[in-house]
Amino acid sequence: MSDRAYEITPFITAKQIAARVEELGREISQSFAGTEKLVVVGLLRGSFVFIADLIREIDLPCEVDFLEASSYGNDTTSSREVRIMKDLRGNIGGRDVLVVEDIVDTGHTISKVMEMLKARGPRRIECCAMLDKPSRREVEAKASWTGFEIPDKFVIGYGLDFAQSHRNLPYIGTVKFTDE
Ligand code: IMP
Repeated sequence: MSDRAYEITPFITAKQIAARVEELGREISQSFAGTEKLVVVGLLRGSFVFIADLIREIDLPCEVDFLEASSYGNDTTSSREVRIMKDLRGNIGGRDVLVVEDIVDTGHTISKVMEMLKARGPRRIECCAMLDKPSRREVEAKASWTGFEIPDKFVIGYGLDFAQSHRNLPYIGTVKFTDE
């Protein structure tokens, strides 16, 4: 945990999140209508709250699987490496797949994960991200569905952490160091 003092400012309310998740669920259900079964893949750990709400707004047969990827390296763009820490349990070959991400920031994680999962031959694969910070992008990455586009602010809550805390906040807040 950081020793620096910080404050949390509410940014996106639980009500706004719920309304947007309902819309996303409706759009995803329409887009995948007729699927035999949708494989919804949550990227751990940040997406666990979002995926729990989102699947309850998806009106299709679906199953849930999880993948944990970690981004390694120092802060220079070229040395970022994404590794799989926990792989899917199921096979996605020939299946309809929706990858659920908490936030697309530099884009490294989602672009690598999508590339790796596409290589497994799904029938169709799309990504839904709760948040997107387009101004931070280092590699090309765009989710098919995005909950909210946000400016370059560090956000927490609704599954997102700061030093492994605050994932349980029901809303999304911004973190500001008080000595800044
Ligand atoms: P990317 O590879 O830079 O796109 O980073 C993706 C991961 O970084 C996300 O899945 C988050 O876990 C984490 N992350 C990026 N921005 C934030 C933030 O503002 N708050 C909390 N976690 C973040």
